[in-house]
Amino acid sequence: MGNNKLNQSIVPRLQNHSIVFVGMMGCGKSAIGRLVSQALELPYHDADEEIVAAAGMSIPDIFEQFGEEYFRKGENRVVSRLLTDGPAVLSLGGGAFINDETRQLIKENGISVWLKADLDLLMSRVLRRPNSRPLLKDANPRARMEELLETRTPIYSLADIHVESSRNSKNDTANAVMRSLKKWLDQHAEQLASRVEQ
Ligand code: S3P
Repeated sequence: MGNNKLNQSIVPRLQNHSIVFVGMMGCGKSAIGRLVSQALELPYHDADEEIVAAAGMSIPDIFEQFGEEYFRKGENRVVSRLLTDGPAVLSLGGGAFINDETRQLIKENGISVWLKADLDLLMSRVLRRPNSRPLLKDANPRARMEELLETRTPIYSLADIHVESSRNSKNDTANAVMRSLKKWLDQHAEQLASRVEQ
């Protein structure tokens, strides 16, 4: 990590676009996002943390008291605000990229990175904090996760860059993201400024 040559081949070409981590709960968006932001010396923002700070309450409490739709509206507002302030590294909650409007904003203002992980890896990670994900508050959290994974995978696959979330080291995954970013920018940096709905 912290390879200066690699950083120089990424950061100037981002212009004001942010690197946006998307993917299922437990895929490692926050941990990898932090590492990539440190390596690239860019600011880091976690959308879930910003929502919690703005609402003054936890995500399970927001879902319980106001419902998912209310949470999604707040999430869309927070992500739009964070995207106006690039370049930065952003980690989004698992559902943010599923919203058409949010996904379009990301396309115009960011480069999306999907961290892919299989069901077993996701479950082993989310079970470390079983009460923090209201969508998994279910008699069978594994079946719920599987259902979400199945319906969301085609949408996550619209992301610009796909990287496997490694079972081993976070640094390995962060390095794989940086290599993929460089490769993606080699091919797309020039079109970045004009990416709008086609
Ligand atoms: C959600 C994922 C959570 C959080 C909320 C909803 C989702 O974030 O935003 O519980 O819809 O997948 P993480 O992906 O960081 O767990």
